Amino acid sequence: MLCQKNLDHVDSGVIHVEDSRGLNWSKDAESIIMVTQDNTEQKFISETMKRMEELHIVGQLAASLGHEIRNPISVVKGFLQILRGKNELFRYTEYLDMMISEVDRVDSMMNEFLAFGRLGGGDPAHCNLNDIIRSILPLLRAYASELGKRILIELEEIPDLELNEKEIRQMVMNLVRNGLEAMAVGGVLTIRTFYADKQVVLAVQDQGEGIPPYILEKLGTPFLTTKDNGTGLGLSVCLHIVAKHRGSIDVQTGENGTAFFVRFPYKS
Ligand SMILES: Nc1ncnc2c1ncn2[C@@H]1O[C@H](COP(=O)(O)OP(=O)(O)O)[C@@H](O)[C@H]1O
Ligand SMILES: [Mg+2]
Repeated sequence: MLCQKNLDHVDSGVIHVEDSRGLNWSKDAESIIMVTQDNTEQKFISETMKRMEELHIVGQLAASLGHEIRNPISVVKGFLQILRGKNELFRYTEYLDMMISEVDRVDSMMNEFLAFGRLGGGDPAHCNLNDIIRSILPLLRAYASELGKRILIELEEIPDLELNEKEIRQMVMNLVRNGLEAMAVGGVLTIRTFYADKQVVLAVQDQGEGIPPYILEKLGTPFLTTKDNGTGLGLSVCLHIVAKHRGSIDVQTGENGTAFFVRFPYKS
């Protein structure tokens, strides 16, 4: 018989154990022998692989469906805008605005969905995470100021890594956008990088109200969103990218804000 359990583990939270009990035990037995194998790593790998496979399928679907859907959407939006400009339809302006904003929502969902399909383009190259962050900083700052918020950066010296630049850019943008969207006007978001314990770490910290527990437990599930015009795809894309780079991602959240930590292993 094979059974699986999760046990609390001193440093890693949970340790996955697989134990085989090939022994018959009876009431008279004085002892039983249990063979136990630490399966934490295998379980992590198989779960990550399964997840990547699922996301790969989503990616292929996205690539083929995305363009097909976006074309009719832009036609519909174009005609809605024409109708909105007609005087005789003035009393329907509110409805037309709602329709346009919903069409926009589908469009931005398709944009992010298409990002799945684009993942994997380009090879990883020897580069520095700090340079990638600096290259998109003007864009991030523009978005922040549009929302009335600010971005601080604290980039320490870190070693170069093998990174797929496009993917890392997308991951940083998704995390930063989430942080900015989580804060009230005037909030400050901090992007930090540092090197510790043979890992290059990216930390994106906001001053929002934190992630509610019911979202936290499902974080990263595609289409999970609490935003009116959210897509719920940003974090799943991040997870996919980080897994491809053999990194890990963890989150600390509370009423004073949320920090996402992305850790990339560094082998000198
Ligand atoms: N920094 C954050 N602070 C608070 N909640 C967050 C943060 N990042 C993500 N979330 C929560 O996770 C959900 C999923 O995020 P994401 O996958 O990027 O999709 P979207 O941003 O389109 O909603 C968000 O709707 C939000 O509820
Ligand atoms: Mg998002």
